[in-house]
Amino acid sequence: MSKTFTLDGKEIPFEDGQTVIQAALDAGAYIPHLCHHPEFPPSGSCKLCTVKIDGRQTASCTRRAEAGMTVESDTQELNDERRSLTQMLFVEGNHFCPSCEKSGDCQLQATAYQLHMLTPHYDHFFPNRPVDASHPDYLLEFNRCILCSLCVRASRDVDGKNVFALGGRGIGTHLTVNAASHRLADTDFSADDMAAKVCPVGVILKKRVGFAVPIGQRTFDKKPAADYVDSRLPAKED
Ligand code: SF4
Ligand code: FES
Repeated sequence: MSKTFTLDGKEIPFEDGQTVIQAALDAGAYIPHLCHHPEFPPSGSCKLCTVKIDGRQTASCTRRAEAGMTVESDTQELNDERRSLTQMLFVEGNHFCPSCEKSGDCQLQATAYQLHMLTPHYDHFFPNRPVDASHPDYLLEFNRCILCSLCVRASRDVDGKNVFALGGRGIGTHLTVNAASHRLADTDFSADDMAAKVCPVGVILKKRVGFAVPIGQRTFDKKPAADYVDSRLPAKED
């Protein structure tokens, strides 16, 4: 019999070496997450996946599963904290969803709905980072970046190109393009790259295809974040 732990009272089987979130998602149990991707090593930056294990808070994407653990996730305390973290992400960037091409297909927005976030609550930072429209087929809207590092990991570990990096410190941390000019056009980034498909929000955008999917048929119109636990993988057909 495989090893198990309990998550909100439900038995979750796991393989040795799996993290708590991997085992939970594999078992169909949703733990909110933004920087976790099933194909990449964890980054542990968003903290939305924080759970309580035997009474202590920890990120479930970096914590290895152990037999007999008691994990709490879907509690008011943790969901209130997740909502606050999500609100912080919203005010740190310019998330004007009504004019964003990723609205309805955005993991951040879907997670906010999932957590019943009604307002940003905090004061907006209103960053003013220039858009990079230099590439013929892709656009970078840096003011929506949540620093999940998925594009960095995808470009480095899958595409072998190192197109993206996170630079700066503290609130000045930002996504940057690894070219002397910092322009996407001056890299070998292409539409076939994993990095072109992995952004959970509206930063890395394919040109000339925005707003093509009717409202009602977008990814998260059909399924809320909790029913789309592998949402970082290419969208599945029903
Ligand atoms: S551009 Fe997208 S994938 Fe890359 S760090 Fe920002 S939010 Fe994450
Ligand atoms: S999913 Fe665990 S910290 Fe982001």
